[in-house]
Amino acid sequence: MDKDNILEVKDLRVNIHMMEGELTAVRGVNFEIKKGETLGLVGESGCGKSLTCKAILAINDKKCEASGSIKFNSDESGEVEILSLDPKGEEIRNIRGKQISMIFQEPMVAFSPMYTIGNQINECTRLHITKDKKKSKEISMAVMKKVGIANVEKRYNQYPHEFSGGMLQRALIAMALVCNPKMLIADEPTTALDVTIQAQILELMKSLQKDFNTAILFITHDLGVVAKMCDRVAVMYLGKIIESADTETIYANPQHPYTKGLIGSVHKIGGSRDERLFSIEGTVPLAMNLPIQCGFYDRCTVAIDGLCNKAEPELVEIEPGHKIACFACDHEKCKAECERARKEIAEREERERKAAEEAAKAEAENAGKKKKLFGKGARA
Ligand SMILES: Nc1ncnc2c1ncn2[C@@H]1O[C@H](COP(=O)(O)OP(=O)(O)O)[C@@H](O)[C@H]1O
Ligand code: SF4
Ligand SMILES: [Mg+2]
Repeated sequence: MDKDNILEVKDLRVNIHMMEGELTAVRGVNFEIKKGETLGLVGESGCGKSLTCKAILAINDKKCEASGSIKFNSDESGEVEILSLDPKGEEIRNIRGKQISMIFQEPMVAFSPMYTIGNQINECTRLHITKDKKKSKEISMAVMKKVGIANVEKRYNQYPHEFSGGMLQRALIAMALVCNPKMLIADEPTTALDVTIQAQILELMKSLQKDFNTAILFITHDLGVVAKMCDRVAVMYLGKIIESADTETIYANPQHPYTKGLIGSVHKIGGSRDERLFSIEGTVPLAMNLPIQCGFYDRCTVAIDGLCNKAEPELVEIEPGHKIACFACDHEKCKAECERARKEIAEREERERKAAEEAAKAEAENAGKKKKLFGKGARA
């Protein structure tokens, strides 16, 4: 593992065992995050963002099975393969909340309505930092102050329903940061908030990141938020990363039709009021019994028939740090990927043709044997 990286995810797959069959919601995801860096994971609802981050903390449902590799560069225990740890064991509990913490989309769901906010932040402090009640309370209150919660003495003893949405999100950030984690996973942390509060929370996260040099995996479907927060972006579609680059490149030179569509659907500063925003037709399909084709084929306006509907493009690096999985890109490396796919299709079709021929031959031989056995009147 590269010593500058805090996290390396390789060929991550998450299969969900359902009554109807196997749903492969995450289909071979690769990315890495450097220490102190913010990586944005972007994509529509249902493309596998949350399952990816829950796999990093090993908190997915029992019916979800993760495979591949998630390496975390832990100061305390060195390089750790998270997928090999017992999800209920000591080692992962020492990482979860303390070294990697998570801010969820809905703060109201993240907090229990039965306990005070102070009590719940304190739980983390006492589990990971100190058992001393007084010290633990002091640390928790200091973090609450740091995230901009005023009148902390009173707020500490209040219940979640006594907090507004924005305040509750601040409290959630306080709980996530109280142990000074090396990495923060923020899963749509501002989606439930109105825009002014959203801007405050984003500013707060940025300044806290500066103070603590925390790496952030920032999950969102909002490209405006990405531009403000992220150093690099990975665009996800149907359980795969289909384009990744530094934030500037993604906005200035997007290559994948899906990324172009996402960027085209954001209103630009200085744009006309009457300008109609671009929208991507259709929805993300369910990742169950998928045919061999590009996941975006049914929604793509530049699809190449005979190629995009017969093979799935691999991610290739077209410039240092800029990767894309699409057959329609002009770059030499993408053209080489088209050639690879064409060869794969030709070989598969040849195999299928031979198998069909052999099946027909076997059927004819069978029919011949039956005729011999039962005479002329026997049915084939
Ligand atoms: N516990 C679960 N049981 C069944 N399907 C699930 C479960 N969790 C997620 N999924 C399905 O997996 C896909 C990806 O989900 P998710 O990672 O939550 O998407 P995102 O966060 O990108 O919106 C979706 O189709 C979702 O319906
Ligand atoms: S591979 Fe084909 S279908 Fe997929 S995004 Fe590129 S052009 Fe569209
Ligand atoms: Mg989600």
